[in-house]
Parts: sequence; C-alpha cells; structure tokens
Amino acid sequence: MTIFYPVDPGNINSEIMEQAAACIRDGKLVAFPTETVYGIGANAFDAAAVEKIYKAKRRPSSDPLIVHIADVAQLDDIVEDVPELAWQLAQAFWPGPLTLILNKTDKIPSNVTSGKPSVAVRMPSHPIAQELIRRAQRPIAAPSANLFSKPSSTSGKHVSEDFVDELDMVLDGGESTIGVESTVVNLTASVPVVLRPGGLPVEALRKFIPELQIKTSYLDEETTAASPGMLLKHYSPNARLVLYLGDDPKRVAERMKNEAEKLEADGLGIGILCSSQQGKQLNNGNRAVFELGEEGDLETISKSLYRGLRHLDEDRVDVILASAPVSSEGLGLAIRDRLYRSAEGNVVEVS
Ligand code: TXA
Ligand code: MG
Repeated sequence: MTIFYPVDPGNINSEIMEQAAACIRDGKLVAFPTETVYGIGANAFDAAAVEKIYKAKRRPSSDPLIVHIADVAQLDDIVEDVPELAWQLAQAFWPGPLTLILNKTDKIPSNVTSGKPSVAVRMPSHPIAQELIRRAQRPIAAPSANLFSKPSSTSGKHVSEDFVDELDMVLDGGESTIGVESTVVNLTASVPVVLRPGGLPVEALRKFIPELQIKTSYLDEETTAASPGMLLKHYSPNARLVLYLGDDPKRVAERMKNEAEKLEADGLGIGILCSSQQGKQLNNGNRAVFELGEEGDLETISKSLYRGLRHLDEDRVDVILASAPVSSEGLGLAIRDRLYRSAEGNVVEVS
C-alpha cells in the first residue's frame, strides 16, 4: 500500500522528509509536489529504481524522464559541457518551470533518457521538491505523476486516483500552483527549440533567445517525434473530448450548447469545460459544467485545467465539450497545447 503523508509546504515536517529521502536513496519511488504538476521520483543515478517509474506509470520506455536538481552544482554530474546559454537561462528562470535538454554524462543511466545522448534537467521551485532533492543528496528523475497518456496530477488526491500501491510514498503538499508542466527547450539543436510549451511563457525565453523556434508538431509516429512525449495522445481524459476554438467566446459557447443538446437527446452524458462566463450560458442545472476561470485569467485557468479534466471523468460523462477561452499568448500557449492533445484531433473551429 502506498502511504500518503500530508506535508505543509510552509512548515515542512523534517522527519517525513528524511523518510522520503531515505526511500529515494534506497531505490524506491516517492511522489512529490512541484509548482507545475506532481512527479514520481527515483534516484536518477539508479537504473533499477528508474525502471520502476516506467512500470508504475505504464509508460513506454521510449519516453525519457526529466532529472530534477536543487542546486546548479549538481549539473556537473548530469550534463557534459554546460553551454553559456544554459547558465544564463538557469540564472534567469531557475528554480522554476523550465526544463533544458543538454548533453548527458555517462553517470546518467540510459533508461533515464530512453537511450538518447541528451538529458532533460529542471530545478523546481516548490519547497517540498527542493527539500526532497537536497536531503536525498542525489538528483531525482521524475515524470508527471499520472498513468501514461492521462491528465497530469496537480494534487495528492489525483496521485491517489491513479496509483494504489505502485509507489512507496506520496508527499501530499496540496495543489500545484501553476498546473501545467514545465516548458521544455532543446539546447542541443543548432537553434534552440521549444519542444513543449509550459509554465514558462516562450515570450520570456525570447528575450534571451530571439531566434528560438517552437516545434510542437503533433506527430503520431514515435520514431519521428523530436520529443517522444509529444505524441498526440496525451493528457487525455477517459471521455472523448471535443475542443472548440474561436475568437468569440460567446459564439463558441452557443455552438457547444447546441451540440450538447443534440448529444444529450441521443442519451449521452455531456461534460463541459469552459470559462466562468461561458459557464453561465452552458449551465442548465443538470449538465456537468466545470468552469476553469474568468476569461483572460490565465493563471487560474492553467491551475484548474487538469483538475477540470479529472473532475469530469469522475462524473463519468461520455463526451467532454471543451472551450479554450485563451489566446496563444503567455500561459495560453501551454493551455491550448494541452487541450489540443486531450482532444486527439477532435477540433471544431467556430468562426
Ligand atoms: O513540469 C514538469 O516538467 C513535470 C514535473 C514533475 O517536473 N514533469 C514532466 O515530466 O512533465 P514528463 O515525463 O511528464 O514529461 C517530460 C517531457 C516529455 O515530453 C519527454 O519526451 C521530454 O520531456 N524529454 C525528456 N527528456 C528528453 C530528451 N532527452 N530529449 C527530448 N525530450 C525529452
Ligand atoms: Mg507527463
């Protein structure tokens, strides 16, 4: 049985943290909160421990993990020849929601990187994550704490929905504040490339890397995917999700309402994911409506995105009609990306 430990991020219990750190040193799995989403951690230098992560998540071994550090000094053991740009980005954005792809050292086992010569590294800002890494005295390899292809976990409760006894310990530190994963930037390419938009807006990165490219191609061929985690089927709820895009949120909601009524007449259970404003148009008293936040409030919308998807799944709806009530600016790019992937190509453009 996995044991859940509530930990107050503002008053961290050192006994519990010592126990969790010992688990990591012993090759066990510990789920922990980060500011983006929860992770399932193992000693990044221990191939056998890392193997357990893939098994617990039912994740294909071709999808590499992120190595989490608490101090830039740890880079020496993980990364071969840290380029100047990496130091600059680390100084500007770490700790925080930025993951850098760099050349790996031989100390990092090949299953951490799925055989790739590069390794993903990130320094999270969450105090519990930092404390765990520091006490373990090792970098921690950790993917998001969800079953493969499902929405990520942004609370200890979400972790407990996906895992019953695959983990040795879960540190429950409440809700993740950002709610979408880190921004992944490949610095080993000739021109730096964003492989996954995330919690750090690309606009912030562009100040340091004007030539930065974004390649969030929705590839479905594992062999050709630049970042294997870019496979389209990802972040998916159990219900089929249809994504509605359009410049006018009211008209988008109108269209969703019509579609919901049609599907409901066919006897299907409908869930709605939308802005608070759209919720007023779409709530009819018995439909499952999850409001992500006020239009334009990107922080609230990103924070509640995975909670919303999981909530509607708990309601066992058959179809989720989702609106992306955000533009592609700032956090909006990551929010749209996750919704787009959840929809697995089911996108309706409302003009
Ligand atoms: O915010 C986050 O990044 C969270 C928290 C726990 O830190 N972690 C997370 O990990 O989202 P995961 O495993 O769910 O996503 C890692 C992403 C995947 O898309 C993976 O393909 C990519 O990073 N990745 C990892 N190593 C890579 C590498 N060497 N080259 C290219 N992509 C890589
Ligand atoms: Mg993930």
